[in-house]
Amino acid sequence: MDSLGYSSQLLSLLFLFFSISASATPFNIPRLGVGTTRRTWQHDQPQTTSSSSDTEDFKTFYYTQPLDHFNYRPDSYTTFQQRYLINSKYWGGADSNAPIFAYLGAEESLDVDFSIIGFLNDNALQFKALQLYIEHRFYGKSIPSGSMKEALKNESTRGYFNSAQALADYAAVLLHVKKNLSAENSPVIVIGGSYGGMLAAWFRLKYPHIVLGSLASSAPILYFEGIAPQVGYYSIVTKDFKETSQSCYETIRQSWAEIDRVASTPHGLSTLSKRFNTCGQLNTSDDLKDYLDSIITSAAQYNHPPEYPVSVICRAIDGAAVGNDTLGQIYAGVVADKGNQSCYDVNEFNYPTETNEGWKWQKCSEMVMPIGHDSNGSMFPPSPFNLNEFINDCKSLYGVQPRPHWVTTYYGGRVCSSKLFLYDDSFGAN
Ligand SMILES: *[C@@H]1O[C@H](CO)[C@@H](O)[C@H](O)[C@H]1NC(C)=O
Ligand SMILES: *[C@@H]1O[C@H](CO)[C@@H](O)[C@H](O)[C@H]1NC(C)=O
Ligand SMILES: *[C@@H]1O[C@H](CO)[C@@H](O)[C@H](O)[C@H]1NC(C)=O
Ligand SMILES: *[C@@H]1O[C@H](CO)[C@@H](O)[C@H](O)[C@H]1NC(C)=O
Ligand SMILES: *[C@@H]1O[C@H](CO)[C@@H](O)[C@H](O)[C@H]1NC(C)=O
Ligand SMILES: *[C@@H]1O[C@H](CO)[C@@H](O)[C@H](O)[C@H]1NC(C)=O
Repeated sequence: MDSLGYSSQLLSLLFLFFSISASATPFNIPRLGVGTTRRTWQHDQPQTTSSSSDTEDFKTFYYTQPLDHFNYRPDSYTTFQQRYLINSKYWGGADSNAPIFAYLGAEESLDVDFSIIGFLNDNALQFKALQLYIEHRFYGKSIPSGSMKEALKNESTRGYFNSAQALADYAAVLLHVKKNLSAENSPVIVIGGSYGGMLAAWFRLKYPHIVLGSLASSAPILYFEGIAPQVGYYSIVTKDFKETSQSCYETIRQSWAEIDRVASTPHGLSTLSKRFNTCGQLNTSDDLKDYLDSIITSAAQYNHPPEYPVSVICRAIDGAAVGNDTLGQIYAGVVADKGNQSCYDVNEFNYPTETNEGWKWQKCSEMVMPIGHDSNGSMFPPSPFNLNEFINDCKSLYGVQPRPHWVTTYYGGRVCSSKLFLYDDSFGAN
C-alpha cells in the first residue's frame, strides 16, 4: 500500500505535537506540526504529488449539521454548514456495492488535504471506490461562525469544538451520502492520519455499524496520561538523530548550553541574532531555542524520502565541523533544512494560523498529550511535561479548566496499537 499522503506538503496536516524547548509556554511550537506551522519544502523538490486526485474530479457539497449532537437545549439546534467533497471517478456504483473510502478531516482545512492525501486515490481504482473527504468542524469552510478566531472567542459555542461532536458529524454525513446515492450496501472504510487517524480509530469503535474498517495512520491514540506508558516524543526524535550521526547528536546536545552562554554575555542576543541571521532581533534565547527545537522535531517527524531531512541536517552539521564552532555548525544545519534565505524568521512556526489556533484549543480542552523533554538520554535540555503548568496556561488562555481526553472518551473497546507518529517505512514508503 502506498502512503496515506505521499506529498511532503502533507506535513502540515500531521503537525500534531508542539512542545517547548526550555521556555514555559507549551504552545510555541511548530505547527506541527501540527504547526502550520507548516514545514515547507520549496527548496527541496521534486514533489511526488502525482498520486493525489485532480481538483476537477471533486464535487463540493455542504451538509447542514447540528452544532450539538448530544443535548436538547435550544442552542443545540443551531446548525452550521459542513463541507465535504466527493470524487466518484473510480466508483463502481451502488449496484455493485462498491466501497466508499472516507477521509476524516483533522486539524486543517480540506483545501490542503484533498489534493495531497494520496492514499484514497491510489487505491480507489483497484477497489472501484468512491472517495469522500469530510472537513472537520471549525476548520476551513466548516466553521460555525465566521473565522476560527471568532469561533474561538464565542464562549457559547466553542465547547462544541471537540472530537466526540466531530465523530458524530462524520456519522451523519456518511449516512446522508450513502442514502442519497442509494449505496446503503456499500462498505465504508474510514481513513485518517495523526489526529485524523485517532478519529478514524475511535470512529470504528463508536460507530461499528457505519464502517467496516478504519485505517489510522501514525495515530498516537495511546499518547494520553494514564492510558499507556509514554514513549517520549523527544526521546524518539533524539534516537533518530543519534542513529543518523553520533557527532551530529552530540553537537545538538551541546548547543543549548552554548546558546545560553552566549546569550548571557554582553550584547549576547545581538550576537546570536547575527550568527543565526534572524529576521528580527532575538528578545530571549528561547526565541532561538524554540525555533531550533521546531526544525529538529519536524525533521524527525517528517523524515520523509526522498529528502530525509534528518540526514540533510546532520550532513550539514557534521560537514561544518572543521573551522566552525558549535553555533556555526548548528547554523549550517538550519541553512541546509530551510534553504538559503535572506534571513531566518524564528517565529515561522508560531503564527496564529487556523490550524495553530484550532489545535491549541483542542489541546487545551481535550487532547492533553504529555509531551515534554524527558531527561533520560535526550539531546534536549530537561523540561518534563508539567500538567499543572499546562492547565494553568490553558486556563489563562480560555478561562476554563481542561477536561482531558482520558476522562471524556471511549476506551472501552480494544484499541489496536498504533505506531507513534514518526515517519517510518510502514507509514509512507511505496
Ligand atoms: C456565537 O455563535 C452563535 C452560533 O453561531 C451565534 O448565534 C452567536 O451570535 C455567537 N455569539 C457571539 C457573541 O458572536
Ligand atoms: C443527492 O442526490 C441528488 C439527486 O439525485 C443530487 O442532485 C445531489 O447532488 C446528491 N448529493 C450528494 C451529496 O451526492
Ligand atoms: C522582539 O520584540 C519586538 C518588540 O515586541 C518584536 O517586534 C520582535 O518581533 C521580537 N523579536 C522576535 C524574534 O520575536
Ligand atoms: C563553516 O560552515 C559553513 C557552513 O555554514 C561553511 O560554508 C564554511 O566553510 C565553514 N567554515 C569553515 C572554515 O570550514
Ligand atoms: C544565498 O543567496 C545569496 C543571495 O540571496 C547568494 O548571494 C549566495 O551565494 C547564496 N548562497 C548559497 C550557498 O547558495
Ligand atoms: C533511561 O534510558 C535507558 C536506556 O535507554 C533505559 O534502560 C532506562 O530504563 C531509562 N530510565 C528511565 C528512568 O526511563
